Amino acid sequence: MNEQRFYRFLRERIGLDVESVGAPMVERALRQRCVAANAMDLDDYWLRLQQSADEQQALIEAVIVPETWFFRYPESFTALANLAQKRLVELAGARPLRLLSLPCSTGEEPYSLAMALLDAGIAPSAFLIDGMDISPSSVAKARQALYGRNAFRGSDLGFRERFFDALDEGHRLHERVRQQVSLQVGNVLDPALASRDGLYDFVFCRNLLIYFDVPTQQRVFEVLKRLMHPQGVLFIGPAEGSLLARLGMRPLGISQSFAYVRQEGDSAPLATVTAPPTRRMVPPLATPGYAPPGAASPRPARITPVAAKPAPPPVPKRDSESELLASIARHANAGASELARAECQRYLGQFAPAAQVYYWLGLLSDTEGDAQLALSHYRKALYLEPQHAEALVHLAALLAAQGDLAGARRLQERAARAGRESER
Ligand SMILES: C[S@@+](CC[C@H](N)C(=O)[O-])C[C@H]1O[C@@H](n2cnc3c(N)ncnc32)[C@H](O)[C@@H]1O
Repeated sequence: MNEQRFYRFLRERIGLDVESVGAPMVERALRQRCVAANAMDLDDYWLRLQQSADEQQALIEAVIVPETWFFRYPESFTALANLAQKRLVELAGARPLRLLSLPCSTGEEPYSLAMALLDAGIAPSAFLIDGMDISPSSVAKARQALYGRNAFRGSDLGFRERFFDALDEGHRLHERVRQQVSLQVGNVLDPALASRDGLYDFVFCRNLLIYFDVPTQQRVFEVLKRLMHPQGVLFIGPAEGSLLARLGMRPLGISQSFAYVRQEGDSAPLATVTAPPTRRMVPPLATPGYAPPGAASPRPARITPVAAKPAPPPVPKRDSESELLASIARHANAGASELARAECQRYLGQFAPAAQVYYWLGLLSDTEGDAQLALSHYRKALYLEPQHAEALVHLAALLAAQGDLAGARRLQERAARAGRESER
């Protein structure tokens, strides 16, 4: 099939790297759109695509991954609440805090930002949140603010009682949260975003960059960095940090929050990056999950980047070790757990055992609730790489959950040391 022109279209329009979601997924979307548009074949569909902005939007809708949920990576919301309080003191009432969630998908992320700040006792007049996403249908759903079960994951769901009304058709978010958030359709690659340069104290750009190739990631980081106030903080997804260190940003060091600030003295344009690094950057120590101020003592940190999803596409062929590692990270973080697991097994069949791969297998088992298997994978990771910070953090959380607090503490201390060393 001559799909290359469609891949090019998607890369230019939304930055999508077809490899990252797998060609079969895009081919499926193309077949769907051909049928819906009554096109005779791909050539005919290509013509229609060129002639119709609506069809272009429909194809984009068919390939995006809108997967999201409330308080995804809970520690980042706890971190945000603390940082926001400090920033408000610095601002001393001069202006409200400005926050951006890009991409905001169906609204769970920007609304979680609002709930976290309200829970922290921050006045509604003290902050404004913008949510932006390329998908008009996702933004329309965000505006409805009516959510089904999939939007609520994990066991800390106290916020649902505080901020939602239970209706027959789902949970409706309270107006006082909705009014904190302005929603808009927009593309992170749109040059018009430059009009907001320096505006935002906190930028959340999570689980978007994993779908981009390295040059596009670099371009987007430049956009994000410009959108941030010089003292601003950027929150990204767990698999998206490795580029940032090379681009004049440093991790804040708050465990599992994936928060970055500019390096001191950084004002220069971003450096050019030529190859995707494969090792994820993770801050050192496990801390509690999101819990509103005053809540009972929370669970140990257990990030859950992997969610069950419908039938994954077949494993695409990769030709290099580093690409395969990067692909495992992308798929696991995108919720394609079967695909990620298959790629881990393929990696272990082709290359020497790697700590990172056992770490991912541990995380996948952990997310599926198989603690014993997760323990054994994390231990293998640590056998291969005793300072593997993420394996240390996750094994510590598992041990703590099983009541082995002394063992957990030892691992946390090791993780903290490993984190300090890697930062140095
Ligand atoms: C997996 S969701 C992430 C949502 C949320 N940030 C989170 O982490 O839960 C990815 C979103 O990126 C959006 N998206 C894809 N390409 C985009 C672009 N070029 N500009 C803005 N949004 C985009 C998709 O529409 C989709 O809603």
